[in-house]
Amino acid sequence: MERIPLAIVGCGGMGHRHLYGLAELHRAGLSRFDLVAACDPVADNANSLADQAAEFFGRRPAVVADMADLVPLGVAAVDITTTPRHHHTLGVTALEHGWHAMIEKPVGLTVRACNRIRQAAAHRGLVVSVAENYRRDPINRLARALLDAGIIGTPRFMVHNTVGGGNQMLISVWRHMKDQSGVLLDVGVHYADMMEYFMGPITSVYAQVRLHEPVRHNPAGAGEEPQASPAGVYTRWQKQMPADFEVTAEDAVYATVNFASGAVGQYIEDHAGHGKGLWSRLIYGSLGSLDLPHDRSGHPITLYREQGRQVVDDGRLLDLVPDFHLNRATATLFGGDRLWRYDFPFAETDRKLIAVEYDDFAGAILGEHPIDVDLDQGTRSVAVSYAMLESGVAGRPVTLDEVLNEQVDAYQREINEGLGL
Ligand SMILES: NC(=O)c1ccc[n+]([C@@H]2O[C@H](COP(=O)([O-])OP(=O)(O)OC[C@H]3O[C@@H](n4cnc5c(N)ncnc54)[C@H](O)[C@@H]3O)[C@@H](O)[C@H]2O)c1
Repeated sequence: MERIPLAIVGCGGMGHRHLYGLAELHRAGLSRFDLVAACDPVADNANSLADQAAEFFGRRPAVVADMADLVPLGVAAVDITTTPRHHHTLGVTALEHGWHAMIEKPVGLTVRACNRIRQAAAHRGLVVSVAENYRRDPINRLARALLDAGIIGTPRFMVHNTVGGGNQMLISVWRHMKDQSGVLLDVGVHYADMMEYFMGPITSVYAQVRLHEPVRHNPAGAGEEPQASPAGVYTRWQKQMPADFEVTAEDAVYATVNFASGAVGQYIEDHAGHGKGLWSRLIYGSLGSLDLPHDRSGHPITLYREQGRQVVDDGRLLDLVPDFHLNRATATLFGGDRLWRYDFPFAETDRKLIAVEYDDFAGAILGEHPIDVDLDQGTRSVAVSYAMLESGVAGRPVTLDEVLNEQVDAYQREINEGLGL
């Protein structure tokens, strides 16, 4: 089997989670990568990743502080898992070296940053994959198959509502800083990707944007019981972050979304909600509706048809889509090529989905298939999130095109200036 020499660039929380994904793929006998380097200017982080890699693969990758140090190591592909501020400079540098790149979401910190990577990628023939994990969830694959099969008829309306978070820090300080990401971008790009995955291209949005919680609290920094940390990796860094800090990024958006199909979406992403948490992702069509579970929960979809008289939330969902099959890696990792539910601890689900991302990246590099979430799609997700923020500033509906082509950029201007873009 052809092997691809790989470096993980950015060895913080997601860098470690990617390592666990690569190890999961390796254990399943499906990995086409050799991890040759761990790159991070914070030596502790790079060494931590390299030490764990040595346990997983029996070989310790080289530890380097700077991407330029990867050149003598013969790297062919990089996995960029740094904070978003660095994605475009590292992405462009990787492409200039002739390396394939998988880049964590948001693929760039602003639309202009994404466009810089797109310019560098043009005509180079290299693979650029966006590590967007939510759509790769087997349950979201099944939902897409149900939509494609017309089980609820023509989709007319989507509800995507999430409320929660109160005044708690979301994982890290940088996620609350406009010049480093902001929660509405950090989480919003996932949901933007899911909306387009299910409903097709978004054409415009009209949004109200708020900053409800100007000071956020970090329990681990205050010596209190740390918050639940995705895949258990973040607590050690959270202990070093301040207990309370002022934020610069907005934390709630309430929007109407228009799709090219003529369908409409109602979108609420409120990270400052106190009291009852809310999750609802619903799609209403001309024949029925789908009630979709949390991404990565493994919970089943509920299908309603015939004015609610027919309710299906079990294995009979699969009978409706006889041609539905998960790809080889997903089926191997999740234990079946036709799934309507799964039940793993979160950390295991997380690494399986990242393993699927790596398998997709390798397959695209080896010319087996196109990449699943490409640079254009990753850029669209960034543009959808910023279209909401731009609409909030402009006080009017904003089209995705005017955000993608940087005609509308009042919100992003100071971020771009800070990046030197
Ligand atoms: N898909 C998901 O579910 C998911 C979940 C969490 C994070 N993420 C994404 O992963 C990325 C990283 O997030 P995180 O939570 O790991 O952040 P983090 O702060 O835990 O880690 C970032 C790491 O990048 C390193 N870094 C910074 N500049 C670098 C450079 N020039 N070269 C190499 N390393 C550099 C930092 O030192 C740090 O170790 C973000 O884009 C985030 O949105 C995705």
